[in-house]
Amino acid sequence: MAKMTSFSCSACGATHSKWSGRCEACGAWNTIVEEAPLSAGPGKKALGAKRGQAMVLSDLSTDEAPPPRVSAGMVELDRVLGGGLVPASATLVGGDPGIGKSTLLLQAAARFAKAGTSTLYVSGEEASAQVRMRAQRLGLADAPVKLATETNLRNILTTLDEERPDLAIIDSIQTMWSDTVDSAPGSVSQVRAAAHELVTFAKRRGTAVMIVGHVTKEGQIAGPRVVEHMVDTVLYFEGERGHQFRILRAVKNRFGPSDEIGVFEMTGAGLAEVTNPSALFLSDRDAPAPGSVVFSGIEGTRPVLVEFQALVAPTPHSQPRRTVVGWDSGRLAMILAVLEARCGIPFTGLDVYLNVAGGLRVSEPAADLAVASALLSAREDVALPKQMVVFGEISLSGALRPVGQTENRLKEAQKLGFNAAALPAGSKGAASGLEIRKMADLTAFVGEMFGAG
Ligand code: TYD
Ligand code: MG
Repeated sequence: MAKMTSFSCSACGATHSKWSGRCEACGAWNTIVEEAPLSAGPGKKALGAKRGQAMVLSDLSTDEAPPPRVSAGMVELDRVLGGGLVPASATLVGGDPGIGKSTLLLQAAARFAKAGTSTLYVSGEEASAQVRMRAQRLGLADAPVKLATETNLRNILTTLDEERPDLAIIDSIQTMWSDTVDSAPGSVSQVRAAAHELVTFAKRRGTAVMIVGHVTKEGQIAGPRVVEHMVDTVLYFEGERGHQFRILRAVKNRFGPSDEIGVFEMTGAGLAEVTNPSALFLSDRDAPAPGSVVFSGIEGTRPVLVEFQALVAPTPHSQPRRTVVGWDSGRLAMILAVLEARCGIPFTGLDVYLNVAGGLRVSEPAADLAVASALLSAREDVALPKQMVVFGEISLSGALRPVGQTENRLKEAQKLGFNAAALPAGSKGAASGLEIRKMADLTAFVGEMFGAG
């Protein structure tokens, strides 16, 4: 086989046969980079030509117990991991630079170490003195975490082999380099190779590995998506800059439910766990305001109340603006279209801004009705009752469709002192002390809430 140069996208890892300015797989610009050439090597035969070893086959039944879990003593982190850390697992923690990944993992390392899990923290980004100073500031200096500064993967693996910790934290994958690969640290091939070595080590030695990966905007440094497929669990640490809330979200978990979230607050003394996020996301609400609607959502396995805020104003532009933060813009367009087509309420000539308070990203279709109510409330300049929650999916016909976990959504609202709920007819579930208002379609909803059809 001749030497083949290949190109791969540093954002999503897709491989391409030629260079181009835009990755066709993920749509990112300027992320395609050349990879080290692949060669079959001398004397290597095609796979079919030489017999390999027969595999050992088994059936699906097992007497094995589910994997034991190690608790971090951090409820929010344990939940996102699916009930604690699984030995010999590989976890990727991705997020924007500066969002708090190192802080989170240093705090987790200290908790694990104090609970008796031997923990080794390898920083390739900061000098040991810097990490120690941070630990001091976080009040964690007495935790028995073993700390090292190193970027050479061979040295790291040798040390891990000798120390055999229960947990190794690698901060970050973009700074690590393996001498088996001929390219710079942070390149797609280095990041892949380094992650592969670490994951293999985890499986072989039973050490749980947590790997930090920065989300990068530039093509020369590979992002965490490049290694997502190799690891057991992928967590993303998200948050709006300027907001103190941070959300740790499981996007993949071989050992637990994905879509689970953990909520933290960045304080002067590190990350504090937020065990009651609904109270936090609703904390600055006072007088009922037009455009503000509380949605009773489900994130992972727990209900979370969040506030949707809409602003609708006449536009000075020929193309009205549609700006969305924390919700899907395609879905917003759909709801605007349904309001116009089914209820005769147009938004032409009006700018529309929609925001989810607190920096949370909502992706449930169950929020459709809350979005529609926020839009209508802003457009009509009529506030909804302050103590009311809204949820339900809207179909293109304008019908309201019941959503899952109605009972949990209602109970959470009741727990937080709400006294009414608007939801689709046909929803099952009730909660005492809540006035339930069920509606079959959007027209009925508009009529009941805003007194117009
Ligand atoms: P860091 O964990 O270094 O981010 P990452 O590893 O994801 O790049 O967090 C950096 C930010 O967090 C920094 O801007 C300062 C802030 N911070 C606090 O607000 N309080 C704290 O106690 C700590 C340690 C950091
Ligand atoms: Mg860091």
